[in-house]
Amino acid sequence: MQRTPLIAGNWKMHTTIAEAEELAAAVAVASHGLADREVMIAPPFTALAAVAKVVAGSPVRLAGQNVCWAEKGAFTGEIAPAMLRDAGATMAIVGHSERRHVFGESNAMINKRLAGARAAGLIPILCIGETLEEREAGRTFAILETQLREGLAGIAGDDPAAVVIAYEPVWAIGTGKTATTEQAQAAHAFVRGVLAELYEKNIASQMRILYGGSVNSDNVDALMAQPDVDGALVGGAALKPESFARIIRFL
Ligand code: 13P
Repeated sequence: MQRTPLIAGNWKMHTTIAEAEELAAAVAVASHGLADREVMIAPPFTALAAVAKVVAGSPVRLAGQNVCWAEKGAFTGEIAPAMLRDAGATMAIVGHSERRHVFGESNAMINKRLAGARAAGLIPILCIGETLEEREAGRTFAILETQLREGLAGIAGDDPAAVVIAYEPVWAIGTGKTATTEQAQAAHAFVRGVLAELYEKNIASQMRILYGGSVNSDNVDALMAQPDVDGALVGGAALKPESFARIIRFL
């Protein structure tokens, strides 16, 4: 069982093109020569093509922060999978908590986005996670299971590298309040159990599950030491070149 750790930076709605180029250049330098882990960044759509030129020849992968299910057409404000590929992305985040909670995206819509990304050969990163209210009501696992089952409905489990899961407890995103290592590990182990029910056990054991929510240079090592934590999806700290460089170089 081999799961290559993935450190992913989600830049959200930050950076001009020039700022993105500068930040991406720093990420490329920080990623140089690392063979035992993967690095990905998700700049805003407007900077993707420019950033692709900056990271060309480096191991840094690019992702869209969201993706439409359709190939083209009357979908104002959306980006097609082929457009992401054209701009240099090989991955796409789907179902981020901000898409779910600020923009009202449902599990059904997220499932369509994921399927569209997959069909176009992009690797989707499916984000799931409970709110504080749901956690306090003891509903964390039930929420995660629903988000996984509905988000992955109809998605084949033949290639464990073709889909990545990111567990991002909503209460830990942008709050400075990280899940404890025990909370993260418990959620990740639960997620892997659901994946084993959806797919086969040996597929589930090879799928990557990232943790996201206030990951920083001080807590990354302890999180990455958890047996079912296979990487990090980093927001705020991914915008700071030194912090992200240290996160990439987790011990
Ligand atoms: P923060 O690292 O800023 O908490 O954001 C996490 C996140 O939402 C990454 O997708």
